[in-house]
Amino acid sequence: MAKTFIDEVQSRRTFAIISHPDAGKTTLTEKLLLFGGAIRDAGTVKGKKTGKYATSDWMEIEKQRGISVTSSVMQFDYNGARVNILDTPGHQDFSEDTYRTLMAVDSAVMIIDSAKGIEEQTLKLFKVCRLRGIPIFTFINKLDRDGRPPLELLAELEEVMGIESYPMNWPIGMGKEFLGIYDRYNNRIEQFRVDESERFLDLNEAGEIEGDHYIKQNALYDQTLEEILLLNEAGNEFSSKRIANGELTPVFFGSALTNFGVQTFLETYLQFAPSPQPRESTAGKIDPLSENFSGFIFKIQANMNPAHRDRIAFLRICSGKFERGMTVNLPRTGKQIKLAQSTQFMADDRSTVNEAVSGDIIGLYDTGTYQIGDTLTSGKDSFQYEKLPQFTPELFVRVTAKNVMKQKHFHKGIDQLVQEGAIQLYKTVKWEEILLGAVGQLQFEVFEHRMKNEYNVDVVLERQGSKIARWIENENIDESLSSSRSLLVNDRYGNKVFLFENDFALRWFQEKNPDIKLYNPMDTS
Ligand code: G4P
Repeated sequence: MAKTFIDEVQSRRTFAIISHPDAGKTTLTEKLLLFGGAIRDAGTVKGKKTGKYATSDWMEIEKQRGISVTSSVMQFDYNGARVNILDTPGHQDFSEDTYRTLMAVDSAVMIIDSAKGIEEQTLKLFKVCRLRGIPIFTFINKLDRDGRPPLELLAELEEVMGIESYPMNWPIGMGKEFLGIYDRYNNRIEQFRVDESERFLDLNEAGEIEGDHYIKQNALYDQTLEEILLLNEAGNEFSSKRIANGELTPVFFGSALTNFGVQTFLETYLQFAPSPQPRESTAGKIDPLSENFSGFIFKIQANMNPAHRDRIAFLRICSGKFERGMTVNLPRTGKQIKLAQSTQFMADDRSTVNEAVSGDIIGLYDTGTYQIGDTLTSGKDSFQYEKLPQFTPELFVRVTAKNVMKQKHFHKGIDQLVQEGAIQLYKTVKWEEILLGAVGQLQFEVFEHRMKNEYNVDVVLERQGSKIARWIENENIDESLSSSRSLLVNDRYGNKVFLFENDFALRWFQEKNPDIKLYNPMDTS
């Protein structure tokens, strides 16, 4: 029987994987896609290393870095669910887009390398998820190698991230002595490196192996039982409600590389991860099951095809159904747009999408119509979804036009790229010099490239390095407090911001000026 619209929406699971580079995001993604039948061979997602995408015609920077648009969104079906995985690039590809992608998901999967614990980039991405209160599922990876004791990892998770955890399973040994996982949730043991038929070993009501089994002879089994006892007595209680509210993270142990624990993770994840949820708008909360189509643009990928100077705007559908050729409203401009060209993304292919529902992501060809954060609605609806937050930039450059005769184009280009959300604009209070802020180096490179290709302006970028940006609550600020170590600038809305050279400069300034109230808009603590 054909699925109804409501079934379709409720089958959607849209998430991003957040992790520090090398924790195993690519490997896990690949294993998930293999389960879903979306790819046939391992290695498909690894465009970066195999150079698989080198022949495609994406913009130069993308080619050089091996970023693949096709891997921005990956979709597959599993056990009746339609899974959309949104990519959050790491390394130098890290940008505001990475953060904004988290605005478009309903949950997040956090991968932690068992030998390394919580790392910097994971923490940054986690904070953005926390801000939205979305459910976070944790996968502690690389158990086939020696890592840190699981109890220590759990303590770190709770202390550093400030989220409570519930281990769904628990490792029995690790590295060379890794025997498998004790699955608390399914009351079974999943054995490592055994024949498929022996993989699962059911436990009795007391949570122990019934009868004789070689695992029982191993001291590691006794240790696991002791730790499980400790978790049962002193650990957090399982609560699907608290998971849904993002207050409790279910923790899974496994090894993505050896495909161990991945299927159990996927199946449990699909059970507890939310389908699309209502989203705030200027017309109140919009129900994803509402028949009227609506969505918002969270990412614009520029110049995929240099011959056409086109872009792709990524739209998250928040309600209703998308049908190719439909006419929608763009409330920001009051214009109507026919959505004739749309793209859906798969791991190894781009294909035209004819229909999609709440929870899905589609790519719209864009010739300058959209801005990041734009809402699209259908019918008589003309509301706007909540603004996407402005993320605190960490890297700054001073920018000028190489050719002073090109000032007009220079300012036009900057204005448009800033409005589009590609980069953030600041001006020094004293001389009105233009500074650009970003969360990742890639944004500057894309900016430079687009200024040249789209506005015909060569720019000079002078690196200012990383700075700590803090907005100011006070209305009037003594401008003489501006110095090279604490530079006073205006953001594009005219709000005053101090850019501190480093943590030391920030603390020193606060001690000297206790009356000035500084804040970081992204601070969740
Ligand atoms: P990333 O996308 O998060 O950056 O990580 P990626 O999956 O590329 O994994 C980083 C490295 O960690 C890779 O090794 C990968 O094979 C390895 N890895 C991932 N999961 C596991 C695991 O469960 N166990 C073990 N032992 N290793 C794992 P590499 O040598 O850097 O790359 P490659 O040459 O193998 O591709």
